[in-house]
Amino acid sequence: MKDILPQDAPYWNAVRMAVDDLARGTGFQRIEPPILEAASLFTRSVGQETDIVDKEMYTFIDKGGDKVALRPELTAAIARAYLEHGMLSWPQPVKLFYLGPFFRHDRPQAGRYRQFWQFGFEVLGDGHPVIDAQLIYDGVTLYRTFNVPVIVHINSIGDAACRPGYLKQLTEYFRSRRHSLCEDCKKRLLKNPLRIFDCKVPDCHLVAQDAPQIVDHLCEPCKDHFVRVLEYLGELDVPYTLNPRIVRGLDYYTRTAFEFVEEGTDDGPAQTALGGGGRYDGLIEQLGGPDTPACGWAAGVERMLLAAGDRPVAAPLVDLYLAVDGGEAARLRAFRIGAEARRAGLAAQAELAGRSLKGQLKQASRLSARYVAIVDDTGQVRLKDMDAAEQQDIADIDVVAQVLRGRGLR
Ligand code: HAM
Repeated sequence: MKDILPQDAPYWNAVRMAVDDLARGTGFQRIEPPILEAASLFTRSVGQETDIVDKEMYTFIDKGGDKVALRPELTAAIARAYLEHGMLSWPQPVKLFYLGPFFRHDRPQAGRYRQFWQFGFEVLGDGHPVIDAQLIYDGVTLYRTFNVPVIVHINSIGDAACRPGYLKQLTEYFRSRRHSLCEDCKKRLLKNPLRIFDCKVPDCHLVAQDAPQIVDHLCEPCKDHFVRVLEYLGELDVPYTLNPRIVRGLDYYTRTAFEFVEEGTDDGPAQTALGGGGRYDGLIEQLGGPDTPACGWAAGVERMLLAAGDRPVAAPLVDLYLAVDGGEAARLRAFRIGAEARRAGLAAQAELAGRSLKGQLKQASRLSARYVAIVDDTGQVRLKDMDAAEQQDIADIDVVAQVLRGRGLR
């Protein structure tokens, strides 16, 4: 678990702003479920035998004797909330997004933490393939905002009609090569052979390469769905690659499964996804609701920032920095203009601690203030536009309007 320090904050703000902008532009509404949920929610939906639940979930018994879990992901909680709050009777589909902390007792390494942040987008109540494509397109666009080019690795893992038959064949295949599998995969073979595709051990990876692929065993409706998703992606020029190894480590997925992988890092078994998701048409029914299709994806904030490096350009933190170059009267005026600026929605800081003018200007530049106003004893304000490298002397009362006007041009 790690601290997000003040110097990281501009990047985190940039992510928050990009996620908010995407949500606003595409009609998603924010949902903020609790950090703690009943542990059984994840056991039932993500799956008892998955790494997330079996190895990584933080659980404890609370004072009332209930077994609770720090949320390792949010799709299950969103399905729960959808049922609990009667969202079935809202106009469908219901489009929800989130951004917050998550917990998995993973082995820490670069891009893998025990507390990490995710944002995600979920569409509930619509089974049309265009939804899958739209969600994927939105993801690619968001990564592009951060100058992180991604390739979408996509697969279909079928549904309750076609998956069982395929699993039988897959089990037979892996059983015949059992001796080459690692100890974990031998267990996976008994519980869920699909997960062997996830294994990063080179020998298992080799065996999995020649395994029967589910795309060759899809039933007609699943095949049709998949082909149409790919057609829509092609229509929007989304860069994708068919990857039969994308099975996703969570039990609730049906049909489309996908991951966002940074361009240039997407070969070899050790690739780590920047984000991922898929369809979960059976989850709401499994939690006791009616048959309701749904699809979504989530991405790790730390991983995205790691991939982006210093590329996301942080917006200026301070619109207006008020420097005082005079006595108490000037200080009071700066104090007043600062309050007025904040009332107008500007980020304004006034220097009131008595630093020298030189020190104040240095501080303004450290903060990358867009405007600097020097308030002195002349009764006027010298307003410096730091972007345009221009300055003018104006009355106190005009400062805020001038900054608002200038900010619109940035
Ligand atoms: P997931 O693939 O388990 O999917 O996690 C999504 C993303 O969260 C990963 O691609 C990664 O960027 C980030 N992530 C996961 N674990 C860690 C970690 N220990 N440290 C840092 N980042 C991590 C889900 O959680 C699904 N709920 C996604 C989804 C939404 N499916 C449908 N809707």
